[in-house]
Amino acid sequence: MQIDPWSSSTYQDYARLRDEFGIGVFSDNHWKNLQNPHRLLRRGIVFGQRDFSMILDAVNNQKPWAILTGLMPSGKMHLGHKMIIDEVIYYQSIGADIFIAVADIESYGTRGYSLKETRSLAIEEYIKNYIALGLKPEKCSIYFQSKNQHVKDLAFLLGRKVNWSQMIATYGFDGSTNMTHVLAPLIQTGDILHVQLEEFGGIRPVLVPVGVDQDPHIRLCRDVAKAHRIFNVKRTKDNKIGVFVKPDEDVSVLLDHAEKIIRNLGFKQLNKITEYKAIYIDDAIEDQIMMIDNTLAKTEPMFDGYGFLPPAATFHRFMTGLNGGKMSSSKSESAIFLSDDPKVAKKKIMRAKTGGAVTLEQQKKDGGKPDECMVYELMMYHLIEDDNKLQEIYQSCKNGSQMCGNCKKLAAEMMERLLLDIDEKRKHAGEIIDKFIVE
Ligand code: TRP
Ligand code: SF4
Repeated sequence: MQIDPWSSSTYQDYARLRDEFGIGVFSDNHWKNLQNPHRLLRRGIVFGQRDFSMILDAVNNQKPWAILTGLMPSGKMHLGHKMIIDEVIYYQSIGADIFIAVADIESYGTRGYSLKETRSLAIEEYIKNYIALGLKPEKCSIYFQSKNQHVKDLAFLLGRKVNWSQMIATYGFDGSTNMTHVLAPLIQTGDILHVQLEEFGGIRPVLVPVGVDQDPHIRLCRDVAKAHRIFNVKRTKDNKIGVFVKPDEDVSVLLDHAEKIIRNLGFKQLNKITEYKAIYIDDAIEDQIMMIDNTLAKTEPMFDGYGFLPPAATFHRFMTGLNGGKMSSSKSESAIFLSDDPKVAKKKIMRAKTGGAVTLEQQKKDGGKPDECMVYELMMYHLIEDDNKLQEIYQSCKNGSQMCGNCKKLAAEMMERLLLDIDEKRKHAGEIIDKFIVE
């Protein structure tokens, strides 16, 4: 199985995807102790994660951390795209620095848009909606890939540790793939890692909230970050915690440096073996690996390294289209766009595929199937904040006391209010958009 980030495939079996690609479960323990956890986190819509514990550690210990995510301007923004920004706005409220990449080079290379077109699409369709939805300009910057020299430089330089076979295996590229498309994943790696450069806040945990189609990019980026590290801290086969030096030059200088850092952290039982390029820490336990590793990473720029920590990621499910397929910008009846006239959106909901029975009589008797219902999905993902209220709707659907007609009307009215509100706020977004965009 391969995930293709540029295809329009839908995914049904998220647990299988998770297992196949080594994505961790996003469980109650990941969100329970966060402040006012967002509904997408509480409801299993965010279903997977990599290294989220690094983020929890930063949040719990009030250490700096950042969010980097990206948008690809191609077509209009719909409710599926809204999920990312809902998450970003939530993370901003609990203290993350926010960076948003406009993937204009990716859109140019993979969708054929001109840079000028992507710019106006990004601003009119995405950024104005982001502001309307509540993104704040404080500690937040939005930039265009094509204008960010740091990002482009990293794409070129970090590419040294990626080879063509790896790109073919990950993305299915072949001799006919155009080179801008080939570069796109490396530019995305540049997006994700550049926020750990000194100028952008330095080495710290970074979370990338994305749809699961982006996992190949996340894997590539994590591999690249690790490949460029100078020190590697891990548990060895014989159950020791070891610090290893990766380069072959200046090994003893690097080992001496690591030793000093490790002693400063309070460890005493060190066993340095220069010919293994290693220091074993006999009084360390596995839970301390991350702390030791992060401390060493921060010193790597002294030796011309980057010290990038591998990015953490969360993965959310895709929204189902109103007619049951994928929610897609190119099929206007499948999606609700943030710029839809609220009346039009209402009509789309009234026509949506539900989990209702064929006849009213049968639905009263057997109940409906909220788990297969697009209207219920809209309420769960976007329209109903109160978990108890959502639960009530679920129950009354299941037990046959709620009928689809009424239920759709309820959802349609909520959607109308949401879109009217966004529309109102979007009118003022233009006035402050300059506070967000860095060029
Ligand atoms: N590839 C992403 C998409 O197709 C856009 C993107 C570019 C991105 N850079 C990113 C996403 C960095 C997350 C992080 O939507
Ligand atoms: Fe969906 Fe509501 Fe019908 Fe249940 S009653 S199937 S939730 S529209």
